[in-house]
Amino acid sequence: MISWGVILVCVSLSWRLETASSQTHEVVCSGTQNGLSSTGSQEIQYNLIKERYDGCEIIMGNLEITQIESNWDFSYLKTIREVTGYVLIAMNHFQEIPLGQLRVIRGNSLYERRFALSVFFNYPKDGSNGLRQLGLANLTEILEGGVQIINNKYLSYGPWIFWQDIIRDNSAPIEIQFNGERGPCHKACGDYCWGPNKDQCQISLLSLRTL
Ligand SMILES: *[C@@H]1O[C@H](CO)[C@@H](O)[C@H](O)[C@H]1NC(C)=O
Repeated sequence: MISWGVILVCVSLSWRLETASSQTHEVVCSGTQNGLSSTGSQEIQYNLIKERYDGCEIIMGNLEITQIESNWDFSYLKTIREVTGYVLIAMNHFQEIPLGQLRVIRGNSLYERRFALSVFFNYPKDGSNGLRQLGLANLTEILEGGVQIINNKYLSYGPWIFWQDIIRDNSAPIEIQFNGERGPCHKACGDYCWGPNKDQCQISLLSLRTL
């Protein structure tokens, strides 16, 4: 007799290709290529994202989080360490996105053929909800493509990162415009931080010191 447990395990394994690297066992899952088209109701949209990325460490392809209207629980994104394509965060109303473990965006595919990280229009028409900090405290490398952060009315942390230190392609575009007021960094951080706290200083890989 096959138990439901076994069936569930099979279903969830089919979402992920587990690969064994030399030292660690990394959970790899595939990303999406939807751009701004949404897949139906909020709940369906949210559940699709959750099923796809729960427990994921490496995304082969793009991470696209778009048109999520309220503060759904995205804590399962905490495990993601690498995205091989681009990261798109657009037209959402949540305040934070827990991608604190994300270290590398490879940019093997780019949003609008230019951006490895694109963050725009993350606030609702009414009210004061909306993205406040990017929280990408461990992001130190974007191997190809640039960054676009525009029209995030309440975003106080993220736009003012020293992007030149993260973006490897010197000719890649950096478009930063129409965001919130710049928030102050903790005094331990100097001028560059991902949020107000001491553990949110921008880490510099190039100079191997905290900026
Ligand atoms: C950054 O990575 C370190 C080491 O894995 C971890 O301890 C820390 O919590 C991460 N930062 C965030 C904001 O998640």
